[in-house]
Amino acid sequence: MTTTPQPDAAVAPASDRDAFRAAPLDEQSRTRLAENGLEYRRVEVGDDGFSSWLQVTARGFQDGERSDEQIAAARERSGYRRVTGVFDPAAPMADAPAATIASWLGELSVPGGRAIPSAAISAVTVSPTHRRRGIARAMLEGELRTAHAAGIPMAMLTVSESTLYGRYGFAPAAAAAAWRIETRRATWIGPRPEGRVDFISRERLRELLPVLHDRSRRRVPGEIDVPGGHWDNFAGTRPDAEKAGDKRAVHYTDASGEVRGLAVYTVRENHDDFTKATVNVGYLLAETDDAYAALWRFLLELDLVAEVQASELAADEPLLWMIADQRAATVTLTDHQYVRILDVPRALETRRYPVAATVLLDVSDPLGLAGGRFLLEVGAEGAARVTTLPEGETREGAITVTLGIQELSAVYLGGVSLATLAAARRVQSGDIETAARVFGWHTAPRLSIWY
Ligand SMILES: CC(C)(COP(=O)(O)OP(=O)(O)OC[C@H]1O[C@@H](n2cnc3c(N)ncnc32)[C@H](O)[C@@H]1OP(=O)(O)O)[C@@H](O)C(=O)NCCC(=O)NCCS
Repeated sequence: MTTTPQPDAAVAPASDRDAFRAAPLDEQSRTRLAENGLEYRRVEVGDDGFSSWLQVTARGFQDGERSDEQIAAARERSGYRRVTGVFDPAAPMADAPAATIASWLGELSVPGGRAIPSAAISAVTVSPTHRRRGIARAMLEGELRTAHAAGIPMAMLTVSESTLYGRYGFAPAAAAAAWRIETRRATWIGPRPEGRVDFISRERLRELLPVLHDRSRRRVPGEIDVPGGHWDNFAGTRPDAEKAGDKRAVHYTDASGEVRGLAVYTVRENHDDFTKATVNVGYLLAETDDAYAALWRFLLELDLVAEVQASELAADEPLLWMIADQRAATVTLTDHQYVRILDVPRALETRRYPVAATVLLDVSDPLGLAGGRFLLEVGAEGAARVTTLPEGETREGAITVTLGIQELSAVYLGGVSLATLAAARRVQSGDIETAARVFGWHTAPRLSIWY
């Protein structure tokens, strides 16, 4: 059996990715940092400086020092990233940055089975010796201005703390659900598909993960094209992987023998009661409803297991309707995928809409990057045309919506209703019910990884 990738055309082609990686640093942020005696510099992944950049980033997240093996592995898989540091020439270890940030051009899936180029931001740390002097703000604004100048319509990130990024226009747009399921209480009432579940090697899992993900990610708003290093982490296939031997991998093949789903999990024994082990699902990827049902059923019916845990699931999982006792599942929702629109017309024209309507959006942007007045005209087939309107111009019959770029970003993937934001007094509209229907979507957005 062979599984061949059938990727859709890239919306972020290699040439655009290279151009963003090589784009010069933002002059405004460079000047602001220089006024405080700090240097804003790119760090090349192949240079010696990358290892101290990495150590500072790990320390910033309160993590331990990286080993030579881990540094070598990180170097090998970081080539796609634009790596930047802020340096303090007066510090005793002036070669190590006082602050770090990394970014790259990726793809974000949006409602309607499409994707949009998006600047992913990661590794934001400011050394505790340099905190609260505006360094993070300079780096964030700098990367957003650079992405905007490069014509990238969207930015995205996952966060350690929820309070950090709203001020730059980012909004939580896809929640993550963490599940704990009491397996004996759950009782499977879902389908029992005809295909089969089999164990596979971690190496085979590593091979299949990107293939299946690329085939299915555009159907799920919020998902991104996953950098290869993440798949190594899930599969435990790198030399620096910890406890790789604990990972068990299975795949689901349909009746024709095609691989349609994958799962990797670990089992933690309960030494007081060997019938009560806990399964932790590292990653579950299903291309079809059958694969989804078969893999979850396999996990929930494992012998000697009392609880299954999984995280980064969608807020609205079919799994809840495949178990007899919904209270067997404890589900906790957390903000997860943050997005920030940088180009309103392009962002709005890329996604699809469930309702035909004409909406006039009056959008404010604290960073002055994407605000303005935009006429969104959605046709019967759900595609939209967006026109930028001059200040003060209105359109007969259009529903007006006044909101900030953060609120528009929050509703963009369909994860929250405009009506909810209106009730929270964060959005105003002459006809909020219709406006909310226009921006709604039938599946909850999801992002299955951290980055
Ligand atoms: C979070 C962190 C990057 C902030 O860096 P910093 O240089 O001190 O931040 P700045 O001085 O530029 O502050 C920028 C703004 O964020 C606010 N802010 C900074 N840290 C904050 C925190 N932990 N909680 C809430 N607000 C915070 C500041 O008040 C400031 O607000 P304002 O500009 O609107 O007045 C830094 O403390 C850090 O590295 N923390 C550990 C790693 C981490 O959590 N990184 C974020 C990864 S997602």
